[in-house]
Amino acid sequence: MSKHELFRAGIVHFPHQTSQPDLDAQCISDGALVIAQDKIIAVGEYSDIHGMYPEAITHDLRGRWIVPGLIDSHLHFPQTEMIACYGKQLLHWLEKYTFPTENKFSEPDYCRQIAPAFIRQLIKNGTTTGLVFSSVHADATDALFEAASEINMAIIAGKTCMDRNCPAWLQDSAQTAQSQSAHLISKWHGKGRNLYALTPRFAPTSTEDQMHALGELAQQYPDVFIQTHLSENMDEIEWVKSLYPDCDGYLDVYDRFHMVRPRAVFGHCIHMTDHEWARLAESGSTAAFCPTSNLFLGSGLFNLDKARDAGVHLALATDVGAGTSFNLLKTYGEGYKVAQLKGQSFSALQGLYAMTQGPAVAYNLDDSIGNLNPDTAADFVILDPMFDELTALRLENSQSAQDMLFALSMLGDDRAIYQTWVAGQCRYDKSGT
Ligand code: GUN
Ligand code: ZN
Repeated sequence: MSKHELFRAGIVHFPHQTSQPDLDAQCISDGALVIAQDKIIAVGEYSDIHGMYPEAITHDLRGRWIVPGLIDSHLHFPQTEMIACYGKQLLHWLEKYTFPTENKFSEPDYCRQIAPAFIRQLIKNGTTTGLVFSSVHADATDALFEAASEINMAIIAGKTCMDRNCPAWLQDSAQTAQSQSAHLISKWHGKGRNLYALTPRFAPTSTEDQMHALGELAQQYPDVFIQTHLSENMDEIEWVKSLYPDCDGYLDVYDRFHMVRPRAVFGHCIHMTDHEWARLAESGSTAAFCPTSNLFLGSGLFNLDKARDAGVHLALATDVGAGTSFNLLKTYGEGYKVAQLKGQSFSALQGLYAMTQGPAVAYNLDDSIGNLNPDTAADFVILDPMFDELTALRLENSQSAQDMLFALSMLGDDRAIYQTWVAGQCRYDKSGT
């Protein structure tokens, strides 16, 4: 049997790092992607490539488009079942819905039931890598890594740490946060495609002792990720000021504990000072823009121009369950509307970059994910742009990748995902086969 598979379709991706995604996208309307086992072997014009692989199994997907597997840079696995719960802003929403729901993950059987369902939602929406908060429970984190490993998916995740200002039944301590996180790092970080993220929930739910304990791990493991929340909500920011009176603002809390660095990913970053933007940029940290969540919780409007002008790595993220969709294209669509309200611009190719190569570069993972370059992992999504009567009418005479992506960001959802391939295996097929 041939070991090569060739996919003939439109192709759009970013082969390199760029600050100008509109200029540097590689868009090929009649393209070919060739894979062998779990890797991409070739990408380019169909006319150039197909003669080189005469024995390849060919999938004729003309009319469809291939993009790299999408990267969701901030979401919460134990909040899957509480997506779209009505009511109020961040701090109230955490008390009313989040903490009680996350408590269910003290049951390992429950974790093993929900983790595969969570992974299925990602794959169904074209997401092949997630930067994921687990609950406070180490078993839940194991269940998540196990479910991702089942399909050889590159997941970055961590046990949430919180030792104050949340219900006592959901707290760890400085010591257990450190020992359990260290254990999970040795068990999962760099094992298969798994990577670990130290995960203090946010400054209000960690004591200085806990931040110190996690900061020690951050120093001990310089290539481990760090994920948390930053400057999402005005009440939250005031609270942080009162809890950390010696710190020079919210970001400085994390900075004092060695958590502002490459592979540190800060969710939200809405109400930021210029100094904080500059510090994120110089440290090589990433800002995760979560538009559906920010609108849902009434948190505020992310300032794309500030992030861009400062040169901060930008990543799009769903922030499920405050975010209202697992679909990153739709998430970009809401990001576009946020930019409209701010009088700013956010093109579809900029959006695609922020869910593929942008974060891959920021995380130093672009040799394996985020693009369709030869030798990277065969993680890719086949889009079905004309999935219903309306999208067919809209896109019938449209040739450009950016127009297709933009229309899908407004009109699409998981119906626009035809197939999702993870490490060379088709893990989601809309037709159900
Ligand atoms: N801040 C602290 N925890 C959370 C959370 O679970 N979701 C959001 N959106 N913000 C948070
Ligand atoms: Zn979040």
